[in-house]
Amino acid sequence: MLAYLIVNNQLRTTRISAIKIESPTVKTFRFKDEACAKAEPGQFLMLWIPGVDEIPLSILDADAKGNVSVAVKKVGGATEALHSKKRGEVIGVRGPFGNCFSIKAGRILMVGGGTGIAPLLFLARRITSEASSLTFVIGAKRKSELLFLEELERFCNRGSVVATTEDGSYGLKCLATAPLETLLTKKKFDMIYTCGPELMIRNVFDQAEKHKVPMEASLERLMRCAIGLCGSCIIGKFRVCRDGPVFNSRQLREVKSELGISKLGFDGNRIPIE
Ligand SMILES: Cc1cc2nc3c(=O)[nH]c(=O)nc-3n(C[C@H](O)[C@H](O)[C@H](O)COP(=O)(O)OP(=O)(O)OC[C@H]3O[C@@H](n4cnc5c(N)ncnc54)[C@H](O)[C@@H]3O)c2cc1C
Ligand code: FES
Repeated sequence: MLAYLIVNNQLRTTRISAIKIESPTVKTFRFKDEACAKAEPGQFLMLWIPGVDEIPLSILDADAKGNVSVAVKKVGGATEALHSKKRGEVIGVRGPFGNCFSIKAGRILMVGGGTGIAPLLFLARRITSEASSLTFVIGAKRKSELLFLEELERFCNRGSVVATTEDGSYGLKCLATAPLETLLTKKKFDMIYTCGPELMIRNVFDQAEKHKVPMEASLERLMRCAIGLCGSCIIGKFRVCRDGPVFNSRQLREVKSELGISKLGFDGNRIPIE
């Protein structure tokens, strides 16, 4: 375990091999990295933008040829610098870090918001042969920000994709959590997987508890070391980088007083989650 962590934690440089525009604010970057190409759905990597910063990103895809992809939303300094990069430019990678989603058979419900859809799409690719049905609820502010809709529809051939937008420009005009009450009342699900804004995850957790359906959620916190040392990513007794980022229902119950409520900010002080 220690040897594995030491190898994965070494910074490797690589070059961006492909860039795809997914939406006005999201681009997918592909590059070669042997270690991260062995990642499982739910794991993340630390991507170094030389001279700028290093940021945590969920792995969107990894293949046997050593290719790795991440979907990145432009929100601040580091992500803007990455968005301005061209094919062939150098980046650095550490990882993969953290645990992964468990692969369950049966009737699966996935709920994803924004770039939180990325690790769920990776999981959907792996789970498709195990699942007897796959229902995907995805949400975004507007149609142009709904990610990976076509790919998801391909994986949901034994289920369905429910798309929601806050402005009503595509699918249902509501938050991604709104259709859940009806879905969970009408149909029995064996597992819920979710990733996205933490307020959304909290709502999914409350509904899963009410309907007694087990769930796993991938959480985001500020991350620096990614190996459980610095403490910037704590939630309750857990360090999200080391004990997560994927947490099950039992663990989420233990951090209920913080989930979707507060987290540590850049200065180490606790701040509300909005
Ligand atoms: C395990 C994990 C997986 C992630 N996966 C993805 C992904 O697949 N795609 C993606 O686009 N983003 C992902 N993120 C979030 C990403 O790391 C941040 O958006 C990025 O670090 C912002 O850096 P910045 O310098 O551009 O913005 P900053 O200037 O640092 O921040 C701009 C805004 O983004 C918020 N922000 C900064 N860091 C985080 C963070 N760690 N989590 C949530 N909000 C943050 C800040 O509060 C601020 O409002 C993930 C985060 C974690 C912890
Ligand atoms: S990022 Fe340092 S302990 Fe998690």
